[in-house]
Amino acid sequence: MKTRNSKTNQRVARIYSVRALALVLALSLTAVTSVAASAVVAIDTATSYQVVVNKTRPLRPVTYHPSDLVRVPKYNPYSRIVRRDVSAAIVLLGNDMKVAGQGTLIVQSGYRSYGSQTTIHKAKVRALGKVHGEKLAARPGYSEHQTGLAVDFAARGVSTLQVSFAKTKAGIWLAANAYRYGFVLRYPSGKTSITGYSFEPWHFRYVGVQVATAMHDQAITTLEEFYSLPAAPNYLN
Ligand code: DAL
Ligand code: ZN
Repeated sequence: MKTRNSKTNQRVARIYSVRALALVLALSLTAVTSVAASAVVAIDTATSYQVVVNKTRPLRPVTYHPSDLVRVPKYNPYSRIVRRDVSAAIVLLGNDMKVAGQGTLIVQSGYRSYGSQTTIHKAKVRALGKVHGEKLAARPGYSEHQTGLAVDFAARGVSTLQVSFAKTKAGIWLAANAYRYGFVLRYPSGKTSITGYSFEPWHFRYVGVQVATAMHDQAITTLEEFYSLPAAPNYLN
């Protein structure tokens, strides 16, 4: 069942990609064409909400910089920036989390440039060694944070960026509910051989409500499996 769904998802992505290409090649260049082309699933396109970035799928270009970054207006003590729609989704999520009595959301980290990811990656590798360090920090050009679609969540009063976050009420609520706002927990427990990264209960990736809900409903926890992509445990070089 899972396999069929994954294959179907990949087929749909491919069909959509071909359709997108056809639309672009048609070069009628009407407003309708542009809108339709941008609405389809595109796992290879840096600007797409469905872009899949992992150790074998760098951003193209590797120095990609999103054009619609905004400062998240709430839950954001560190003035983090993310893409506009992601910011709106974070606010909705934080509001509902608070109403549900599950804590006060904190945006710990959002967009990171190629340059800042270089610094983070270097520091992790220096502190933990290459093998362990690279299970926690992506190389520049390979980080979802550089898409402006990834967020590290924390909550007021809990220790941040720790695996123990998974057991806090905020972490539990986020893991169960973030999909309703378009986010997936990108590096789940037990999936390091597929994602290439250790369990990060704080790292959520915006993919849009439709894809996040489909993954939730099909009980598929990684983008690699959802789109039937090869596992990406290591860099290719
Ligand atoms: N911590 C994630 C894997 C990153 O560096 O993008
Ligand atoms: Zn992260």
